[in-house]
Amino acid sequence: MIRKLVMTVSILALVPFAVTAAEDDSEYGVFVDKPGVEEAYAYCSACHSERLVAQNGLTRDGWIELMEWMVDEQEMDPVEEPDYKRVLDYLTKNYGIDRPNFPKNK
Ligand code: HEC
Repeated sequence: MIRKLVMTVSILALVPFAVTAAEDDSEYGVFVDKPGVEEAYAYCSACHSERLVAQNGLTRDGWIELMEWMVDEQEMDPVEEPDYKRVLDYLTKNYGIDRPNFPKNK
């Protein structure tokens, strides 16, 4: 009985795969990476997606009112200075009424 030993050399090609995040997937979600984003993301993505915020476009007064509403009706802890101004400036600059950074659908 002849046994044929077929030796197969299998080469394991270890293809290094990089874990690449989608380009617009920053650590702040859909929030644009501008000054104040850290604070805005920390405060405003605690209860709901930051997307809900980014979909809005308001004036400075509008954001002030909205933040009051978050505190009065939605149980948000009041944001203290200097963070309050950082968040408000961020929202006003980047999520104004012309909605310059309205999130794209993904
Ligand atoms: C303590 C939880 C909490 C935090 C923190 C919070 N929110 Fe909210 N927010 C809510 C809830 C609850 C709703 C939904 C209210 C509803 O639709 O009845 C909401 C809704 C919203 C909406 C949608 C309003 C609309 O017209 O539908 C916006 C915009 C928003 N929040 C902005 C913010 C911003 C900006 C911050 C940060 C400064 C923030 N939220 C932080 C609880 C929170």
